[in-house]
Amino acid sequence: MIKTVDICCGLAWGDEAKGKIVSQLTKQNNYDFVCRWSGGNNAGHTVYVNNKKYKTHLIPSGIFYNVKSVIGPDCVINIKSFFEELDYLKYNNFDISLIKISPRAHIITDKHIEEDINKLNKQQGTTKRGIAPCYSDKYKRIGLQVKDVAELKEYIWNEKLYGNILCEGAQGFWLDINEGNYPYTTSSVTLPYGACSLGFSPKLINNIYGAVKIYDTRSGIDPEFPDYLLDDEELNKIGEVGEEYGVTTNRRRKVNWLNLNKLIYAINTSGVNIVIISKIDILEQVKIYKLYNNYSIVKFENLENMKTYIKSKIEDNCVNVSSIIFSDSPLCI
Ligand code: IMO
Ligand code: MG
Repeated sequence: MIKTVDICCGLAWGDEAKGKIVSQLTKQNNYDFVCRWSGGNNAGHTVYVNNKKYKTHLIPSGIFYNVKSVIGPDCVINIKSFFEELDYLKYNNFDISLIKISPRAHIITDKHIEEDINKLNKQQGTTKRGIAPCYSDKYKRIGLQVKDVAELKEYIWNEKLYGNILCEGAQGFWLDINEGNYPYTTSSVTLPYGACSLGFSPKLINNIYGAVKIYDTRSGIDPEFPDYLLDDEELNKIGEVGEEYGVTTNRRRKVNWLNLNKLIYAINTSGVNIVIISKIDILEQVKIYKLYNNYSIVKFENLENMKTYIKSKIEDNCVNVSSIIFSDSPLCI
């Protein structure tokens, strides 16, 4: 029987330090499972374990702390990159026998990847991982599932989840297929309710941790992040110091000031009760403190003033939020 479920989701356009938060939560709590509920190897999660940096794309971060890690039925699997990730984790002495995949997850085929590279990437700036064509076949009900693929047999999770569960989000609120700037979204549900596809009642959800950075970034095409942002000296500096390059695609991410109104909407719609705002040390390094509120830029003298302002706006507008945590780049929450 499942006792409780915690969820960590992204509140922006992905790359909000979800991996860092999930690994810390796994370290600090007694979870029986850490599960991914959506997406595939389009995600890129960076995790520090004993001061060493690890990168994953598909496998949930529970693996770094010896917790069973399950990839759910609404995820999509690239078999080759799954095995590459297993090898990488095994080479680094993590226990890969803890990794399981739902039999109902869908397989990304070479044809899916070709279509993504030749067509969708050019129009939408996708990660070229075949995500949209795979979900498209799923919804046409002509897709190939994990249960039908012989080489994944030993990794199939056929049992029920139990105990305390942490769900690891991929992508973020504004990449969600329904909430995002369609078609510049991904193809899955990134909001926390999507985690229920793992097979539990929404009534079991306890904490919803929302991850966001103190500035916004976007990898991929999005008219909301116009090209002229790349010419802004201050934003460029933040991108350089913050090392804003994609973990999956190595593309330079566009940087913009934190849009507080969008953040508040994302917090309220997701049902987030704990907000974790990362990379505050980057603004401290470049010594520029700005954000957008109601379409105009608000400038601050120092980081403390900016933090106080963000905190009061979230507290005034988000009734469910009980805690707002500011966090440095690689460090723990
Ligand atoms: P994590 O989990 C940042 C973006 C792509 C593109 C759009 C659609 O690391 O936060 P897709 O390949 O999914 O069809 O691409 O979504 N995108 C991400 N951006 N972080 C991610 O994941 C992303 N996953 C997809 O750049 O704009
Ligand atoms: Mg990413």
